[in-house]
Amino acid sequence: MEILIRESQEAGCLLGARIIAKLVREKPAAVLGLATGRTPLRLYQELIRLHREEGLDFSRITTFNLDEYVGLPATHPQSYRWFMDEHFFRHINIDRRQTHVPDGTAADLHAECRAYERKIADAGGIDLQLLGLGRNGHIGFNEPTGSLRSRTWIKILSEQTLRDNSEVFGSLEAMPRHAITMGVGTILDARRCLLLAFGPAKALAVVNMIEGPLAAMCPASALQMHPRATVILDESSSAALQYADHYRWIDQHKLDWQKHP
Ligand code: GLP
Repeated sequence: MEILIRESQEAGCLLGARIIAKLVREKPAAVLGLATGRTPLRLYQELIRLHREEGLDFSRITTFNLDEYVGLPATHPQSYRWFMDEHFFRHINIDRRQTHVPDGTAADLHAECRAYERKIADAGGIDLQLLGLGRNGHIGFNEPTGSLRSRTWIKILSEQTLRDNSEVFGSLEAMPRHAITMGVGTILDARRCLLLAFGPAKALAVVNMIEGPLAAMCPASALQMHPRATVILDESSSAALQYADHYRWIDQHKLDWQKHP
């Protein structure tokens, strides 16, 4: 795991955007795995700026989002399809038909999960999977105790996750209780993973993910098994790490080819 601690969420998001932009420039037909939530918003804004001001070209990019609430149609403002269109896709030159979000309204949700896995495989797999981190250590909607080898499936949302995400729904009662999510195994198949976590609320999950044991109680700890996982933190999300100085040391002594743009 590569751990990059930056002074602020702003700096962390700009770094994340540069890593993705570099991939898009090097591989114009790359397959990107994308995430929703508050964490990556600034990163998407920066990619939009790079598109507008520097001509960053998304015309051949394919995307797969991590997850979607069960029962919410694409027209629902709290659906993740809506989120992605609103905060990213409609501002760049991506072919919307090349953007994929699981369909939470599918009549046969199991078939939808299988089809999603097939579409990822048909696209050649995911080059880079962007991830946020739940306060309880979830990635996508893979809640604690879920299998670390899972494929795209239907998950029951934990009370903590419902509370954390209820703000935008107005109330907890208005929230779906289930979601379709890429499995942890699906995520680990991406050729590269880039996880962002900012703010004090994520500090405990960050410790469990990086310094805790590999454990289904912290699904994000599965990234310890990934050959190319990068984690971007800020001061407050990294505050509880025991070996923060070590991660900073490593970051400061990178060889030229290991340095980030
Ligand atoms: C949600 C999403 C995750 C996201 C996480 C953190 O439940 N399913 O993909 O990473 O919560 O959200 P936020 O970035 O808003 O803190």
